Amino acid sequence: MLSLRLQAIAEEIADNQKVIDIGTDHAYLPIYLVKERFFTNVAATDKSLAVLEYSRANIEKYHLDKQIKLILSDGFAQVKENYDVAVIAGMGAHTITDIIKNSQNLPEYLIIQSNNNLPFLRRFMEKKEYKIIKEKVVYEKGKYYIIIKYQKGKEILTADLRDFGKNYDKKYLQALLKKNQANYLLNKDESLAKIIKRLQKFIEKIPD
Ligand SMILES: C[S@@+](CC[C@H](N)C(=O)[O-])C[C@H]1O[C@@H](n2cnc3c(N)ncnc32)[C@H](O)[C@@H]1O
Repeated sequence: MLSLRLQAIAEEIADNQKVIDIGTDHAYLPIYLVKERFFTNVAATDKSLAVLEYSRANIEKYHLDKQIKLILSDGFAQVKENYDVAVIAGMGAHTITDIIKNSQNLPEYLIIQSNNNLPFLRRFMEKKEYKIIKEKVVYEKGKYYIIIKYQKGKEILTADLRDFGKNYDKKYLQALLKKNQANYLLNKDESLAKIIKRLQKFIEKIPD
C-alpha cells in the first residue's frame, strides 16, 4: 500500500499520462500506477545504481519490468524521451531546483514535494515560468508534506503566496506559525518577526 504522501501525489496524475518519476528510490509510485491504475507508459529514474537495482528487484517482484522503464540518471540528464508529467518528490528544495535547472526538456506538468524551503522553491518555479495549479497538504506520521502541482505558464505570486502557499490549510499554517515563533524566540531575527505577522494575518483571512 502506498503512503498517504505518495497516494496524494498519484491522485494528481491524470489517467494514462506518460509519467516519469525522478529519484524513484523503491519505485513504489511507478509500480502503483501500472498495477492499480493500468498506466502503460511509466519511467523511473535514480542517480544511484545501487538504488536502481533495488527498484528493479521491486519491479520484478510484480512482473512489471516490461511496463516500467528504469533509467540511471542524475535528474533528467539521461532522459531521452518526452513525458507529460514528472514527479520529483522526497528531496530537498535545492536538489529539486538543481534537477530542474539542468534540464533542457521539461514536461508540461511537474508534481513536486520538497522536504524543506518551500518559499525558495516557489520563487524558483515562478522564475522558471511554471504556475501552481494545486497545492495539497498531507499529514502523515507527525509530519506535514506539501505537494505542489505545476503547469507550464507564467504567474506572479504575492509575497504571501510565495511564502505560505496556495494550500490554505489552517492546521498546517498554524503549525508553520508555531515553528516560526519558536525559531524567533531562539534568534530574535527581525525579518522572521515580519513573516510571523504576515502569516498571522494570512491565517485570519482563511475561513474555518
Ligand atoms: C528520499 S528518496 C525519495 C523517493 C521517492 N521519490 C519518494 O518520494 O518516496 C530520494 C531519492 O532521490 C534520489 N536522488 C537524489 N538526487 C537525485 C538526482 N539528482 N537525480 C536522480 N535521483 C536523485 C536518491 O538516490 C533517492 O533514491
